[in-house]
Amino acid sequence: MGDIFYVTTPIYYVNAEPHIGTAYTTVAADVIARYQRLKGREVFFLTGTDEHGQKVALAAAERNESPQAWVDRVVAHYRDAWDLLDISNDDFIRTTQNRHTRVAQEFIQKLQESGDVYLSSYEGWYCVHDESFLLSSQLADGQCPECRRPVDWVKEENYFFRLSRYADRVLAHIEENPDFVQPEGRRNEVVSFIKAGLADQSISRTSFTWGIPLPFDQRHVMYVWFDALLNYISAIDYGTDPARFERTWPADWHLVGKEILRFHAVIWPAMLMAAGLPLPRHVFAHGWLTVEGRKMSKSLGNVVKPSELVSEYGVDAYRYYFMREFSFGVDGNFSRRTMTRRYNDELANDLGNLESRVQTMVDKYRAGRAPEPRTPGAEENTLAEKAAETFASFEAKMERLAFNDALSDVWEFIHAVNRYVDVSAPWALARDEAKAADLDRVLYNSCEGLRQIALMVAPFMPRAMGEMWRRLGLGELADARIPADAAWGGMPAGAECVRGQALFPRLQE
Ligand code: MSP
Repeated sequence: MGDIFYVTTPIYYVNAEPHIGTAYTTVAADVIARYQRLKGREVFFLTGTDEHGQKVALAAAERNESPQAWVDRVVAHYRDAWDLLDISNDDFIRTTQNRHTRVAQEFIQKLQESGDVYLSSYEGWYCVHDESFLLSSQLADGQCPECRRPVDWVKEENYFFRLSRYADRVLAHIEENPDFVQPEGRRNEVVSFIKAGLADQSISRTSFTWGIPLPFDQRHVMYVWFDALLNYISAIDYGTDPARFERTWPADWHLVGKEILRFHAVIWPAMLMAAGLPLPRHVFAHGWLTVEGRKMSKSLGNVVKPSELVSEYGVDAYRYYFMREFSFGVDGNFSRRTMTRRYNDELANDLGNLESRVQTMVDKYRAGRAPEPRTPGAEENTLAEKAAETFASFEAKMERLAFNDALSDVWEFIHAVNRYVDVSAPWALARDEAKAADLDRVLYNSCEGLRQIALMVAPFMPRAMGEMWRRLGLGELADARIPADAAWGGMPAGAECVRGQALFPRLQE
């Protein structure tokens, strides 16, 4: 079961356009997907949009549009943003698609038949922005504890899911599988939340109609979170193509922002248990990004769109910055100052200059052909060892989604290659005919250093690394695999090397 590596993002509400926060999760999921493909795994990477619910219905009504027309229009912004960011998702699910609504209805029917769903009425608070039911004790100064917006008092007939019946099993699963909910601090919060006692969960609404009708009671539409969570199984044909489902489920990683962890670590596991399905392997809650120290919001007018930054810095630098600057589990603050500094220091200088000086010398001294490796000396052996060590620590960190630490290791290796070029001084060797073999050796190993860097950085900057790979005469980086291609010395002698434009032209600070 689950031979395919399956990674997901949350499905995004289509009431707003994508911004650097939503793009953060999507880029991280893309890095994971690309890294696993590089390792030779068959990958299914899913993202999509959450199109039902009161919030979306209200957004459409404000614009005098039908909800369907509105979601059809806004969804294009998501597709465009992910194209712009080189997101390699294998599918894009929309909860208004037939393939989804059909599965969602079958799923709830099944739970109803097994006695996990019952009719009652809900009287309490509701936050439309977060689409969440709230107890009075959960409010913060009378407002939603998550988004700090005013909440509505609602009283309506609802169907409930017997969440309380599964509380002990979900808790036991979390405690027995420490990798299930990450990072640890967030897991502890979830554990305390469950220990405080779980009430049954309302899973239908009757005060509006924009949702999936319940198959057993058409007066009700499905609660948008119950509907949305099911995207993770409707996209892989649960109930319609059992063979495909078996190969793909359970998900290896559900990536979510910290504010929606409870839905994924409490309600979703209970829903899966009720349907007799295995639980996802890992749920990772990442931190929230602020902009220049403040929460991003339409009212503050400080929402940053990926497209603005991509036109200033380029897509690769965009992806690199967000993965390098922040530790994935904690909050972080975006600023143009830190982005420009990292771009100039780490991309233009450390990596871009290294590539350019190596290619310039191969062009000048060896007419653009990678030379023979020759016999390695102490410097080369040290560099090769450093590469192997870096690969090992890089992989360990990638496996636990420590993207910033993984990149920091690669940058130490980049510094080591830069130092290797400095101490070997190929420009001095080039002045002495008798040192031709030494020059071959230094140029070969410098190219090999670049090749190793490209392999590790590829999931983060697929475009620039693809270009670096091609310029080393290696063909398509998408065909490379680790560990096979990670062994030191994979650079073929005689490869046609091409000197090109700066990969990361310096920016004004
Ligand atoms: N539709 C639900 C998710 C359903 S999943 C079954 C939803 N959508 S959302 O559009 O509000 O997107 C929430 C996700 O966007 C967060 O979980 C997080 O991944 C990302 N982010 C939105 N703003 C963010 C920041 N400011 N910082 C980092 N990520 C944030 O919730």
